[in-house]
Amino acid sequence: MMASRTARIRPYPSPCFFSHLGSSASKFPGHRFHASNSPLFQFQVLTPKYFYQSTHRRLSTGKTPELSSTNWNIKSFLHISPKLPQRFHKEIKPLLLTKSGLSAATFLIGCACSVVYAYCSNWAREKHLQQALLVGSVPNVPQKKQLVERKGIAADITSVLQPKSGYDRYTIIVGNHGTGKTTLVRQIGHQIDGVLYVDIDSASVTDERFAQQFAKAFHWTPPTRNWFDVMLSVLGITPNEVADERTLLVKVFKEFRNQSQLFQKNKNRCPTLVLDNVNRLAQWNPVLLDILQDKAKDAADEGLFTTVFVTSEGQAPIRMLDRSASSRLGKVIVVEDLDRNEAMDFICNKKGKSSQVAESIYGLTGGRLGLLISAINELDDHGNFAEVRALLLSDANEKFLKAEIGAGGKFTAAGIQIASHILQHGRISRRDLYQISGGIRHGQQLLSTNIFTTVPRSEWVVFDSKPIEIVASMLVKNPDSEIQIGDFTKTG
Ligand SMILES: Nc1ncnc2c1ncn2[C@@H]1O[C@H](COP(=O)(O)OP(=O)(O)OP(=O)(O)O)[C@@H](O)[C@H]1O
Ligand SMILES: [Mg+2]
Repeated sequence: MMASRTARIRPYPSPCFFSHLGSSASKFPGHRFHASNSPLFQFQVLTPKYFYQSTHRRLSTGKTPELSSTNWNIKSFLHISPKLPQRFHKEIKPLLLTKSGLSAATFLIGCACSVVYAYCSNWAREKHLQQALLVGSVPNVPQKKQLVERKGIAADITSVLQPKSGYDRYTIIVGNHGTGKTTLVRQIGHQIDGVLYVDIDSASVTDERFAQQFAKAFHWTPPTRNWFDVMLSVLGITPNEVADERTLLVKVFKEFRNQSQLFQKNKNRCPTLVLDNVNRLAQWNPVLLDILQDKAKDAADEGLFTTVFVTSEGQAPIRMLDRSASSRLGKVIVVEDLDRNEAMDFICNKKGKSSQVAESIYGLTGGRLGLLISAINELDDHGNFAEVRALLLSDANEKFLKAEIGAGGKFTAAGIQIASHILQHGRISRRDLYQISGGIRHGQQLLSTNIFTTVPRSEWVVFDSKPIEIVASMLVKNPDSEIQIGDFTKTG
């Protein structure tokens, strides 16, 4: 019976049977021959005897007349020895019914399931990571219609977020608070694939929290070893391997490097890692900032991925530019305030204000987007420009008081001297600022107060914003008298 069966093609064919041209298979007449003639006949006894092949390469095990026949006998088809069930009942079943036999069987089945489970979930995890990098993780910006178009700088930012093949540098995007860095990067980065965005908020300045933020943006989870790990993570218990904060950072970076290589193979360019608000690291965890800069340099050296650091002016860019790792630094893109035309266009055409109001707002905020938006919102709420002015200037005055400049604070004399120098000359050198404030430590303290700010890649220091400049000029004019809220409305 077995020997007289016919087969349409050979199962498990040797490659030469399936080569397209001049193969034995292509010359095979009628695809029908006695199975006993096949050299693989012995192997076939454990496999179904009939295969259909619609093309030379595709196999399918479709139903044949014989397979659907009611006389078909599964035992003979699978060639199961009739003695096997008997042996199972006599020898294996009693063994399984003993305590140790049952435990051993349960253990073996558990191990097998665990291995299969770990394999499948790691495969899914790998796909998830690839997808995360491919799609990117940059949050979108709401209310796009209301945004000022920043044509000039947008092209620069696009070129660093989507670098050309072979780009081997990292980038710093720098600008004062509220100039629109985050908005620009998100708006552009959201449309580009291969951009991973990590926001360093004030809660994520520790190594551990930063690593967790990075892992979250990358959709990274520890690889699964068995179902027990998964149970633990569902219960919120972290497996040992991620207990050490630095270890987690190393692991996420390692995986990111692997995925970057894959991305590069597929897209022929490297992916981008955006680290926003690194100024917070300079203030609270400078060692981590140094580590990240070194990683950015190494990745640029190897052409693996490019890193974009987004920071406000001050300690972060000063620190980063002073280190040897800055040898691999490419562009430093400065995001500045809107110029007069851009600001007027935004206030009049996008926010619907009269040109007179727009002039007043521009005079008060100096084209700083964050302040412009606050002023417009306050104006909508109060309807009175004098009140808006008083509000913004009191906020600026608060910064002076916090920096201990004015009201008998310890930096009053130095602060007023520096402010007067800037008002006279438009800027002051960092060296002079350190000297007036009584040394580098005090100088750096003053620079971190959001009153004075550095101009990147230069020695110069200027006022942080227009409202700060207005309050500073009031202080310089009346150094001995304390500023009152009423003074702010009067000056307007
Ligand atoms: N192009 C734009 N058009 C209109 N509004 C904008 C634009 N860019 C930014 N803004 C608004 O200005 C404010 C500050 O923007 P953003 O947070 O992007 O500044 P930033 O430079 O990242 O500030 P920080 O240094 O404090 O992080 C936000 O309210 C934002 O909505
Ligand atoms: Mg920002």
